[in-house]
Amino acid sequence: MTSLRNFLDTLPAHEILDVREPVGLDFCKTALALELEARKQFPVIRFTAPAGYDVPVVTNLFADRDRIARMAGTTREGFNATWTAALDRMMPARIVDDGPVHEVVLTGSEADVTALPISRHFQGDAGRYVSSGILVCKDPDTGVRNLSFQRMQMKGPDRFGASLHSRGHIWEHLQRSAARGKNLEVAVVIGCHPAIYLAAAAKVAMEVDEFAIAGGLLGQPVDLVRCKTIDVEVPAEAEYVIEGEILADEFEDEGPFGEYTGYSTSRSTRNVFVVKAITRRRQPIFLDIVPGYSNEHLLLGRSAKEAHVFARLKEMVPNVLALNYPKSGTHFHAYVSLRKTAEGQARHALMLLLGLDSYIKLAVAVDEDVDVYDEDQVLWALATRFQADTDMFVVPKVFCNRLDPSSVDGMSAKLALDATAPLQSEAERTALPAEAVQWARDFLTHP
Ligand SMILES: Cc1cc2nc3c(=O)[nH]c(=O)nc-3n(C[C@H](O)[C@H](O)[C@H](O)COP(=O)(O)O)c2cc1C
Repeated sequence: MTSLRNFLDTLPAHEILDVREPVGLDFCKTALALELEARKQFPVIRFTAPAGYDVPVVTNLFADRDRIARMAGTTREGFNATWTAALDRMMPARIVDDGPVHEVVLTGSEADVTALPISRHFQGDAGRYVSSGILVCKDPDTGVRNLSFQRMQMKGPDRFGASLHSRGHIWEHLQRSAARGKNLEVAVVIGCHPAIYLAAAAKVAMEVDEFAIAGGLLGQPVDLVRCKTIDVEVPAEAEYVIEGEILADEFEDEGPFGEYTGYSTSRSTRNVFVVKAITRRRQPIFLDIVPGYSNEHLLLGRSAKEAHVFARLKEMVPNVLALNYPKSGTHFHAYVSLRKTAEGQARHALMLLLGLDSYIKLAVAVDEDVDVYDEDQVLWALATRFQADTDMFVVPKVFCNRLDPSSVDGMSAKLALDATAPLQSEAERTALPAEAVQWARDFLTHP
């Protein structure tokens, strides 16, 4: 019961938009998701009969915060606590003998990825890209599994280009494998229970197998099967798995690709992935993720990260109340609120925040009366509680995410803004009696 299709079955009808006409997937898929986003609508989009393919293609699954919370069995408000609880009760995955993902096993010339409904997303993209693959690999020394996302450009029937630009754990694993002259075995999982996707997006210690976090979120271990051609395990109930390896000593151009920053970028580690097998269900669903500056890409990337960074921040500054990575900042801005009890506390929280996540280049602290999810309120706090000569600091030349087009040599400046009011502030916010507010609400509900 821990599959993509089981989760899709739980969605109310109004949350799924079916496209039944045989439309070509290239560009149209992205265009529809972004057009809906502009209208503040975030349904799952399902192409039931995409032109040229006989499998359904689902996208935009992660575009909505409430839906993401339901993937973890909770509500938007409960997400942070659920995440922390899942880390406290991680459940190691269980290896089983067989599963639906092995209903069809294709090797040799039959393992042809050009037959899969992999599409072009943006005009500037170098080609057809898998945007939804969870790359599963193992630490070459400890054997601990790692899950992460890497864009994969289809280059031919058995070849992809890949970019590991986040320099995450898979990058470390590859460096250590390559130093021994070995390729890194990797399984690319396309379509599995979305809780596994949330766990894969988290930045946790290298000793942690993200399948165990997914088990904690699901309240039951994830069942895994052994791959057919490599020593890696994958979810038994996945839709598709592409087995293969990232080459230790071959590099070739990859990109450009439309990234979460809103820019088309060819900054890439230029890695090469060679396919060994495709395994899948008999009637699979192909999952796509809307890339670029889309709600889906940004929310998937930040939901678990936000909860994780929040928990670590709160360990050190217990009166921190909420943390938001606003969409407008891609992954580079973060707003934090706190109930300040001593001067300097906001700066303490800001220093930690900049240190906990190397992507962040602007951190803003606000008081508890400011909703960090409402950018209007955050900017109001900056307008009325912040002075640039005393309330900010800059740390130059810090390691950052290289996809920021303004970064230099993989470094950027980190800016912290303390928009909290002094504890002794005499400025008084305008207020209204609670009864008057209630009357207005009642009047508008039943005029
Ligand atoms: C949808 C999505 C796509 C991503 N694409 C890439 C990518 O192409 N290359 C990359 O290096 N990181 C990419 N990332 C970021 C990493 O997958 C992410 O930082 C991950 O947590 C790294 O985990 P690790 O440090 O455990 O390996 C992507 C993240 C998401 C959510």
